[in-house]
Amino acid sequence: MIKLSPSILAANFSSLGDEIAKIKDADYVHIDVMDGHFVPNITFGPGVVKCIRKTTELVFDVHLMIENAEKYVDDFLNAGADIITVHYESNMDYEYIKNKVKEKGKKLGLSIKPKTDVSVLKDYLSDLDMVLIMSVEPGFGGQKFMEESLEKIKMVRQMDKNIDIEVDGGIGLDNVKKVVDAGANVIVAGSAVFGAKDVSKTVLEFKKF
Ligand code: DX5
Ligand code: ZN
Repeated sequence: MIKLSPSILAANFSSLGDEIAKIKDADYVHIDVMDGHFVPNITFGPGVVKCIRKTTELVFDVHLMIENAEKYVDDFLNAGADIITVHYESNMDYEYIKNKVKEKGKKLGLSIKPKTDVSVLKDYLSDLDMVLIMSVEPGFGGQKFMEESLEKIKMVRQMDKNIDIEVDGGIGLDNVKKVVDAGANVIVAGSAVFGAKDVSKTVLEFKKF
């Protein structure tokens, strides 16, 4: 069965606690952290993560789209992150981040952007709990799913039968099946969940895949 990780990037920021209550039947809360450098947009910091941590027991899936993630990893862990995903393409001290996440008994993910080849993941797989395949250029919600991602998912699944493969960007009820069939088991959905008329019902519909 898949794990659903609704992205609060598409939620109403004025009432994040209420928005998260609507996704109680999901598995993770996907938290898109953007710094205006690695991506051309700015979102949440550890202070927001700490506040929403008090409102839910769902797993916090923190997607760091930032440069120098080593400067902030402690803060996000202390704020309640359960999974920390960093970007292969960013400038960062990977060893430091890996050690901090493992010391805390938390999970480590590595993400690649659409133009990055999956072969770069080879040297990292033994450290990782999760690979995050971006199926849109990171930075904004509501973009169109890039079909080329399906081949990348299949290739990662061939490289590792057991690792969690998360896919992020442009996924809705209309195309989630092909993402899962390609080998993904963690599904991010922002606008398809929080933009739906009935958010809680949409979560249950996703969970059927
Ligand atoms: C994009 C973010 C995504 C985004 C997905 O940079 O990483 O998590 O919120 O949004 P949708 O599902 O609307 O494409
Ligand atoms: Zn994301």
